[in-house]
Amino acid sequence: MTARNLQIDGERLWSSLMEMARIGATDKGGVCRLTLSAEDREARDLFRRWCEAVGCTVTVDRIGNMFARRPGRDPSLAPVGTGSHIDSQPTGGKFDGAYGVLAGLEVLRTLHDHEVQTEAPVEVVVWTNEEGARFAPAMVGSGVFAGVFDLDEALAKTDVDGVTMGEALRSIDYSGDAPLGHPFGAFFEAHIEQGPILEAEGRQIGIVTGVQGIRWYDVRIAGDEVHAGPTPMERRRDPVGGVAEALARIHGLATSRPPHGRATVAIIHSVPESRNTVPGSVAFSVDLRHPDADVLAEMDAGLRAAVEESCAARGLDGEVSDVWHSPPTAFDPGCVGAVRKGAELMGYGAMDVVSGAGHDSVYISRQAPTGMVFIPCKDGISHNESESAAAEDVAAGANVLLHAILDRAGA
Ligand code: GLV
Ligand code: MN
Ligand code: MN
Repeated sequence: MTARNLQIDGERLWSSLMEMARIGATDKGGVCRLTLSAEDREARDLFRRWCEAVGCTVTVDRIGNMFARRPGRDPSLAPVGTGSHIDSQPTGGKFDGAYGVLAGLEVLRTLHDHEVQTEAPVEVVVWTNEEGARFAPAMVGSGVFAGVFDLDEALAKTDVDGVTMGEALRSIDYSGDAPLGHPFGAFFEAHIEQGPILEAEGRQIGIVTGVQGIRWYDVRIAGDEVHAGPTPMERRRDPVGGVAEALARIHGLATSRPPHGRATVAIIHSVPESRNTVPGSVAFSVDLRHPDADVLAEMDAGLRAAVEESCAARGLDGEVSDVWHSPPTAFDPGCVGAVRKGAELMGYGAMDVVSGAGHDSVYISRQAPTGMVFIPCKDGISHNESESAAAEDVAAGANVLLHAILDRAGA
């Protein structure tokens, strides 16, 4: 068999995905595998065993990123990397992240079965804490690897219980000593689309040309805690009035910029959270997205104005803290081309897409030529326990990944 005719084993990939999804499985058919939890450890151990079974060497760096390396003919060449994440949202699905890791594993297994020797080594990576659900921000392992985040600052991030990332890494035995930031000759990530476009267009493959910009904030609006009964409305400094106006305006930042604008408020807490006390303050998270950096900057200014003006009108105090900014990213034309060639070779219907979600590839693209392969997911739904993808699309994406990697690694 020549490299051009190679195909992955779709049934084996599907059964590995289902086996991985049992770790942290939820009653509603999803997955809760928060980063650096006991479930994350179990999933990492399973990945390690699977990679070692096909002769790969697995190393771990200081932020817990895992690298399964298959040697190439020329050890002086930088590896061609692929991979994604196995942490999930609290109510996540079976495919977000795990698909990219296990598609990479399936490439390793296919090369192993057919005794294909590549020129460059091939390396499958599990990036730590892509989701940002337990420790904000997102894409931390890849960000530290690429030098975007400082290692010590990342290790000091805390979860809601005050546990640091460093402590959590040590508690699951995944604080390693592999050097941070080794070069890749190229990097590819397979992922479900997490949106509705491929399904609506009837295409099996998304050739990802880039990723839209993301900004995260913490907002706090403060007034005075007073009794809910005796205190007349006009004598209150009730932060909820300011929050109501600010939230409507924040949603408007996105709805007034169709079709790409996005605004999400997801975490909302009041203090002291007692139904007969007017809250002294309300804090909420904001996630703003747009593929155009200038428009995202306008939305950023709009958010600050929304909070300031909603507070000023009511004598409240408003504070906007920046949590994270991931600017719009364009992927490497050569890697985008390798994905396109892979889809053409396999005869799959494909189209160019811009990712609405953030991915580890955003940070890796700052130090290595990078590209991504998307497959459709059912009804475009992700970050939901019902997230689902068709077995034939899962296989198709892994075949495209295989051929993009072969293109870059040289077979
Ligand atoms: C990462 O999962 C994101 O928030 O897009
Ligand atoms: Mn993901
Ligand atoms: Mn996700």
